[in-house]
Order: sequence, then C-alpha cells, then structure tokens
Amino acid sequence: MKERNSTYDIRKATLGYQEEVERLKVQAMMGWHKEFRNLQWYGLKNGMNVLELGSGPGFVTEQLANNLPDSEITALEIDSSLLDEARNRLHYIPSSRLHFVQESVYDTGLPDNSYDFAVARLLFLHLHNPLKAAQEIYRILKPGGKLVIIDIDDGIFGAIYPDIMLLPSVLRKLADYQASKGGNRYIGRSLPRLLASTGYIDLDIDTVTQHSDLHGVEGFKRQFDITRFKGFYQKGIINIEEFEQLKQASENINDSPEAYAMMNFVMAYGKKPAHWVNQLSIKV
Ligand SMILES: C[S@@+](CC[C@H](N)C(=O)[O-])C[C@H]1O[C@@H](n2cnc3c(N)ncnc32)[C@H](O)[C@@H]1O
Repeated sequence: MKERNSTYDIRKATLGYQEEVERLKVQAMMGWHKEFRNLQWYGLKNGMNVLELGSGPGFVTEQLANNLPDSEITALEIDSSLLDEARNRLHYIPSSRLHFVQESVYDTGLPDNSYDFAVARLLFLHLHNPLKAAQEIYRILKPGGKLVIIDIDDGIFGAIYPDIMLLPSVLRKLADYQASKGGNRYIGRSLPRLLASTGYIDLDIDTVTQHSDLHGVEGFKRQFDITRFKGFYQKGIINIEEFEQLKQASENINDSPEAYAMMNFVMAYGKKPAHWVNQLSIKV
C-alpha cells in the first residue's frame, strides 16, 4: 500500500477533477519561465538525470522534458489518474527520456544515488511528514545532487487589488484548517531548517512572484474561483463576511480591468554533500 499521508487528493478537489487540472495547468505555466530561470541558476543543466516529485498532471514535467532535450526525466506521482493524464498527453516524448513512477515520495523505490537534480513543486505543503520525504529524496540524489522545493508560504501569499480587507483572516483560517489535516500552508519559511536537518548543504531560499499584469489574469481567475471557497464557508471554516469579500474579489478579477493580483512562491535549495557516505552501509 502506497503511503499518501498528504492533504492533496484530486478526487476531493472542490472544483472537480477537470477544472482542478486546468487550475494546476495555468498555475504551473504562469510561473514556469521564472522558476526555470531559478532552477538553472541553482545548477539545473541539460543532460542531467532529473526527478520530479508529486508531478501531478505533468505540466512542469513537460516543460522540463522540452527544455532539457538531452536529459532523462522521471516523474513520480502517487495518483494513478494524474499519472495517466500526464502519460497520455506526453506520449510524444520518447519513453527512453521520460519515465513515470507511481510511488509515494516517502518510499520511492528508486535506487540510491541516482539523480543529479530533484524538483518538488507544491508537494511539501501537503505532506504530513516533510522530513521523511526530504530524507528519501536525499537518499536517491547522487552525491552532489541538488533539490529545489517550490512551495508557498501564506505569510507572504501576495496581494490583490481592489484589496480584500479580510484576506489575512481568511488565509489564517485556511492555513489552520490545512494544519488540522496534517498539511502546512506556512511551509516556505521552514524549508531551510528542514533541508539542514536532513543533511543538505549550501542552502538557499528565494521567491518568485507571479503578477497578473505580467503573466495574464487567467490563472488568478482560477485561483480566486469562488467555487474553491464555497466548501470552506459551508463547513463553517470562513464566515459569511469573509465569503462575500472573496466573492467580490472573484467578480473583480473576472470583470474589472482595474483589478490585478500577485502571488509569491518560495524556492528552497539544498545540495547533498559530494562526499556523502551511506552510514548504514558501513560495516564495523
Ligand atoms: C498541488 S499538486 C501539484 C502538482 C504539480 N507538482 C504542479 O506543480 O502543478 C500536488 C501533487 O502531489 C501529489 N502527491 C500527494 N501526496 C503524494 C505523495 N505522498 N507522494 C507523491 N505524490 C504525492 C498529488 O497527487 C498531486 O499530484
């Protein structure tokens, strides 16, 4: 039995399966140019053996494969329907270059010391046990291999104009709810410590900003789609006033040329030391 132990299951998405896939698509594509720029800055190069964890419907996978034409890409994802979605869409990429693995990030089944570069995008905020995941990725990275975690931190969520006065309390309530289910919407700030405690070195953290004036408003329409918040209101997680303000923001972003929004994503980096020795394999 694969250990999901996370708060993300697309079958429970309030938008429904196909709309949620579309939301993930626009969200991944809006930031890709900047994220890829930073990934390269952290050392991602064509020809590397690359692992993507929690690859979902494979929009980032596709960009990795197309931008790194001499690399082998492995997309690891626990959900078989999302993996099929990616497999079907990416059938044009030779199977010698693109591998799909249906496993959990906690126990990938992949061999020790195998990957030059690993990317986990919007996975860690959902994990019940991020340390275990970071340790597993460490095991399968080559000595000198690198990990970049791209994630959120709702303390620096971003902004929307016209302002939603109750946005801070909405964010706090949604984060508390996520925490009650075992996730962490403030994960961004804790990533350097997480990586350090796992043994990664040369740590760094940075942010990438998506702005509707630069990247188009489409992704933000989906982000603020009021359907996403209805369930939280119905469950009593947010109150009527907060829901009404979100509804107004959703209408603004859909209809008003004055409206704009921006969102921040955290990129945390760490390297597995080049002279790493698996302590468990040392015989005494
Ligand atoms: C929010 S989606 C992000 C998808 C993609 N990385 C992106 O940026 O669009 C999180 C993904 O992590 C997957 N996931 C959740 N728990 C997992 C686990 N334990 N192991 C591997 N993947 C997992 C989910 O099925 C989902 O596809």
